[in-house]
Amino acid sequence: MKLLEGKKALITGSRRGIGAGIVRMFAEHGADIGINDVVRDHEADRTIASVESLGRKASWHLADVGDADDRTRLLDEFVDAHGRIDILVNNAVASRDMHFTKITEEFWDHLVGHALKGYLFLAQGATNRMIEHSHGGSIINISSVHSYRAWPHDTVYGIVKAGLNRMVMSMAHDLAGTGITANCVAPGYIDSRVLPDDQESNRGNADYVGSALGFIPNRRGGLPGDIAGACVFLASDLGNYVNGQTITVDGGFLAGGVPPDSQPLEPGMPGAMELEE
Ligand SMILES: NC(=O)c1ccc[n+]([C@@H]2O[C@H](COP(=O)([O-])OP(=O)(O)OC[C@H]3O[C@@H](n4cnc5c(N)ncnc54)[C@H](O)[C@@H]3O)[C@@H](O)[C@H]2O)c1
Repeated sequence: MKLLEGKKALITGSRRGIGAGIVRMFAEHGADIGINDVVRDHEADRTIASVESLGRKASWHLADVGDADDRTRLLDEFVDAHGRIDILVNNAVASRDMHFTKITEEFWDHLVGHALKGYLFLAQGATNRMIEHSHGGSIINISSVHSYRAWPHDTVYGIVKAGLNRMVMSMAHDLAGTGITANCVAPGYIDSRVLPDDQESNRGNADYVGSALGFIPNRRGGLPGDIAGACVFLASDLGNYVNGQTITVDGGFLAGGVPPDSQPLEPGMPGAMELEE
């Protein structure tokens, strides 16, 4: 059964990884797709081809979701190509670990700028276009288990992801009566690596998950398709009564307690001395 037949879906940061997994599953369910990224490469070409090989329309959009002009152009280009927008999946991110004492204003501005502010204003632009067409729609933000609990060096990433969970709660209220739902999907350990075709069977295996494996009740790493499945549900009529929620897709990891990869404080960091004494 195709759950998204004829829907028009824009997925950001989708040339590879989880975004590309969402692209493929949405196309399998009958959606036409806009693929966005800041990089056009072999991976982007493969993702575009995967949509076309399923007989669905694919449009490509080179745009930085952290840039206001790019966001407007991205939505305009998408609607020009597809006639309307039914689904937006905010997925793009460029992040790295940063110890709290080392966070710079540039680091904050960059991560918050594209992965929180960028998500909000893209969602706003998409919902305004959905309201113009009076056909409802679905906004999905890709959050993280980092929105619920802390790992070392994840302050800004955790704040951004927690902000997304809270954003959809307010969106659900402010969009009441429009037929538009807003939700988050919070992935756990998802193997989003670019792998050669002959190593695809290794995706999500113990090498990738490492010591976390024993803390994941499903006893495997997550796959991009695991996240895509939750997105299909939320974007389809099946998920129509789910609104303002964050659905965790982590193989049960958060239910399990102590994280496996907590690291000791690095030498020289505040607090490290006390531990060493
Ligand atoms: N992989 C995991 O284990 C995991 C866990 C929790 C949450 N997530 C979330 O899932 C989403 C996808 O993660 P992934 O692992 O597939 O990452 P990824 O790095 O494989 O893909 C992210 C894509 O976003 C693109 N991108 C970066 N900045 C951009 C910008 N400003 N504008 C447009 N595109 C941009 C990148 O070029 C890249 O192609 C992210 O929101 C991430 O926080 C991932």
